[in-house]
Amino acid sequence: MEYTILDVETNESFNCREDEPLLSAMKRTHKGPIQYGCGGGGCGVCKIHVLNGDFICFKKMSRAHISSEEYADHIVLSCCIKPTSNLIIKKFSQD
Ligand code: FES
Repeated sequence: MEYTILDVETNESFNCREDEPLLSAMKRTHKGPIQYGCGGGGCGVCKIHVLNGDFICFKKMSRAHISSEEYADHIVLSCCIKPTSNLIIKKFSQD
């Protein structure tokens, strides 16, 4: 099963398999807001905003990088989530 991920800032789509971390799909397709450091939930560089769609968090996200308020607003680390539906995403920004 694959899902379609739309990056609203570039208006480009790419596919992500249901068993694939979102960051890995961005790296594989060279699309989406690719920005990363550790690749394992520790640095916070891969922070994105999921505007629409569902996902699972398969790896613990540090509260130092994602507050509970941010998580409730679907601000997440792309290296720690896998899609369970099509997603609409954008790069995280403070505003
Ligand atoms: S790449 Fe470091 S937290 Fe995702």
